[in-house]
Amino acid sequence: METLKDYYLKALEFKPQHPIDAETANFICDFINENKITKMLEIGSGVGYSANYFSLNSTIFSIDTYEKQFGFYLYAKRNSLSKKINFIYEDFLNGNVINNKYPLIFIDASKSKQTEIFKKALNYLTDKGVIIVDNIDLKRVKDKYNSSNLSLKSLKSTEKLIKKLEEFKNYLDSLNDLIVTYHEIGDGIVVCQKR
Ligand SMILES: C[S@@+](CC[C@H](N)C(=O)[O-])C[C@H]1O[C@@H](n2cnc3c(N)ncnc32)[C@H](O)[C@@H]1O
Repeated sequence: METLKDYYLKALEFKPQHPIDAETANFICDFINENKITKMLEIGSGVGYSANYFSLNSTIFSIDTYEKQFGFYLYAKRNSLSKKINFIYEDFLNGNVINNKYPLIFIDASKSKQTEIFKKALNYLTDKGVIIVDNIDLKRVKDKYNSSNLSLKSLKSTEKLIKKLEEFKNYLDSLNDLIVTYHEIGDGIVVCQKR
């Protein structure tokens, strides 16, 4: 049987990318197991590595996962190692296709649209549910910004992204009905729980 590692290596050949950090993936699996979570929503399937990781390393029963790029969606659907995953080809910000609420939502999508995606995701969260957002530190992006000679255009777009991230954090900190906790693991995650 193909292992997650094989899956990861094959996916890298398909498209070089940064899937979820192992530390973050393990944090989420522990969270699922400790809280006996049976279903979750993921926004940003990529090639399906994170959904497969959760599916094979936790007690989750079902994962709905959104991906807006057809190539990634198709790759993930065709190569998935697990039958617990429902791959959905759709921009999460478009339409209103979800008819469900989830106790856990994982956001690993467009870094420049964290606030919009988060606000929409809140509609699909159960009482006491939790949203976990990845890449809250943007370490790789900031390292590149600090160390290399980026073009003026890249510098400007990176500055814009970093500013947006700060605005997202300010927005999260302004929400009184959520308990917001930052964790310095992987590329930084934030755990937001409904009070
Ligand atoms: C970092 S990758 C996801 C990696 C994946 N979670 C993993 O760890 O294997 C981010 C993905 O989010 C997708 N994405 C970005 N914005 C989205 C949106 N609004 N709706 C659905 N997918 C989105 C991108 O196309 C990209 O494939």
